[in-house]
Amino acid sequence: MHLENFAKMEKNFKRYLITTALPYANGPVHIGHLAGVYVPADTYVRYLRMKGEDVLFIGGSDEHGVPVTIKAEKEGVTPQDIVDRYHEMIKKSFEDFGMSYDIYSRTTSKIHHATAAEFFEKLYKEGKFIEKETEQFFDPERNKFLSDRYIIGTCPKCGNDRAYGDQCEKCGSTLSPEELIDPHSAISGAKLVKKMTKHWYLPLEQYETWLRQWILEGHKEWKTNVYGQVKSWLDGGLQPRAVTRDLDWGVPVPVKGAEGKVLYVWFDAPIGYISNTKEICEKRGDNWEKWWKSDDTKMVHFIGKDNIVFHCIIFPCMLKAYGDGYIVPENVPANEFLNLENDKISTSRNWAVWLHEYLQEFPGKQDILRYVLTANAPETKDNNFTWKDYQDRNNNELLAIFGNFVNRILVLTHKYYEGAVPALENLNDRDKEVIAEMNQYPEKIGKLIENYKFREGVSELMNLARLGNRYLTENEPWKQFKTDPERTKTVMALSLQIVAKLAILSEPFLPFSAKKLQKMIGLEVTSWNQADATILLNAGHVIGQPELLFEKIEDSVVEAQIKKLEDTKKQNELNAWKPNEVKPNVSFDDFMKVDIRVGTVLECTKVPKADKLLQFLIDDGMEKRTIVSGIAKYYPDPQVLVGKQVCFIANFEPRKLKGVESQGMILSAEDKDGRLVVVTPSQMVAPGCNVG
Ligand code: 2FM
Ligand code: ZN
Repeated sequence: MHLENFAKMEKNFKRYLITTALPYANGPVHIGHLAGVYVPADTYVRYLRMKGEDVLFIGGSDEHGVPVTIKAEKEGVTPQDIVDRYHEMIKKSFEDFGMSYDIYSRTTSKIHHATAAEFFEKLYKEGKFIEKETEQFFDPERNKFLSDRYIIGTCPKCGNDRAYGDQCEKCGSTLSPEELIDPHSAISGAKLVKKMTKHWYLPLEQYETWLRQWILEGHKEWKTNVYGQVKSWLDGGLQPRAVTRDLDWGVPVPVKGAEGKVLYVWFDAPIGYISNTKEICEKRGDNWEKWWKSDDTKMVHFIGKDNIVFHCIIFPCMLKAYGDGYIVPENVPANEFLNLENDKISTSRNWAVWLHEYLQEFPGKQDILRYVLTANAPETKDNNFTWKDYQDRNNNELLAIFGNFVNRILVLTHKYYEGAVPALENLNDRDKEVIAEMNQYPEKIGKLIENYKFREGVSELMNLARLGNRYLTENEPWKQFKTDPERTKTVMALSLQIVAKLAILSEPFLPFSAKKLQKMIGLEVTSWNQADATILLNAGHVIGQPELLFEKIEDSVVEAQIKKLEDTKKQNELNAWKPNEVKPNVSFDDFMKVDIRVGTVLECTKVPKADKLLQFLIDDGMEKRTIVSGIAKYYPDPQVLVGKQVCFIANFEPRKLKGVESQGMILSAEDKDGRLVVVTPSQMVAPGCNVG
């Protein structure tokens, strides 16, 4: 690694304002959110705090927007009920996961409504918006304008008659409501009409020169995925962007004549970062403005790639338009997406590992998830989470490399020296080499974190543990102790210093395990730079009793998780099931040609040497007839059918099946999952009577 390749820190910032995308409060948080936004942000913040920086870490729920109202409508509850439920759930799971927020608030708060309204009002009064009247789809029955998601119609690309105004879920096309054939209301079903409505637009194109200077020229060090997206937006030409909507859920537009209109969720949500800063500063008696309006604050937004345009273009334009000293972000290290078992994570298909469920099913195992999501972070391209990889990384890395090294050293220290750290003296050349190498890690890992390269950072942490393991293998203190106890003291003393270094440097990545280890060895950690020293545990210092940091994850544990996902897949297939298309019409006369009757099952047995076939003996009211039917798989105990009545086609051409002549056909229904069940009359009737 070449440290000189990193962008130079041109400025010395006095404080850090770190924000994480506000998750929509219409569902729980999953591993995709964690890998993309929350784990890297928390790692970064923990590191900055250890460096002694003044940090404010802001989170919160995004509680407005159409998805919330749709969910409320579906469940027959109010939007407030929905956001209350999910805000609490997300907040609690973040706490349990160890997110070290200074505040986790919400956009339905009073302070947020007031802040967002004031923000709009100032821009409005200063003429920063364009007012435009346009024709929009209107539901005449509900007497309201509909947002794209509430408009359904036929997809012009694939003919799906349940496509939404913004997207067809069948063929994946992005649509506008205008493109839909026969658009109608998803709420009332009414045919839509067009009606004029007024909205306010932020003329983004007026900020283009400034955006180019600020990002394209001034921030070439930004991640290529972020820089590239910004460049292509700018090269594509910016357009005025509507910042209001005709909706009844959101921050009301604070302008006369704007009744029934709210701020567009993407206008109010990022202002949530400001409102939440105000809220915590009010509580602490701190001055919020110093965080937002001083050039010596470094603001960093942690987001996923779908949020890039909002955080790199729209929100900065809002801040620029507002003026008054507002700063813009110094960096926006957006991540790509994480897939789950090679499939896109999807809330609607329940294809996710949900944080609240993980915490319940894997209590005390937050660090494993943090580790796996960092080691496999989608930093430069989409990445994949698999339970097998989760197990391997725990068993072969956390446990085999980190945990075992620490455990061996601590156990031997107790065995040989009753827990007292020996002096680090009589160093040979190899010892000096190891010391020089281990002392590079604080800076190496620190620089990687500062440059948002968390993946590499955590891999260097593991390399430090690997160095420890290598040093142990070279010296084998467990053998050496008998032959050269003096030398063993040096080896153990040096290894203990590596353990202590790991206890400090692992803290941003593995906060729970780091704390546990620090406690175990009696190391009081006050800063990151403390790890620069060679001697972290003084000679004679007595360490505590060793406990295991990581445990093996058994196959059965991950198999259960994989099974859960397989069940989800099956359930999704069933949910996606639709009845077959109806066949072309048949005439009455043609129908009457088919002689369907009811018969009583007298005997039912498996046809020998034919897995699929059942042989029925049916009382058809006149005689006994034999019918063979291919449903054996669904009736493992054919006896259950004896005495039941079934419907059968009496004039079906007789045919031989595995040597048995079948004189008819038993009617059965094919269920969603392909299972066949015989059709029976709802009450007993006389055998032989006609069905029609
Ligand atoms: O994409 C999302 O989940 C949005 N709720 C993120 C909002 S980030 C910020 F602007 F509030
Ligand atoms: Zn389509």
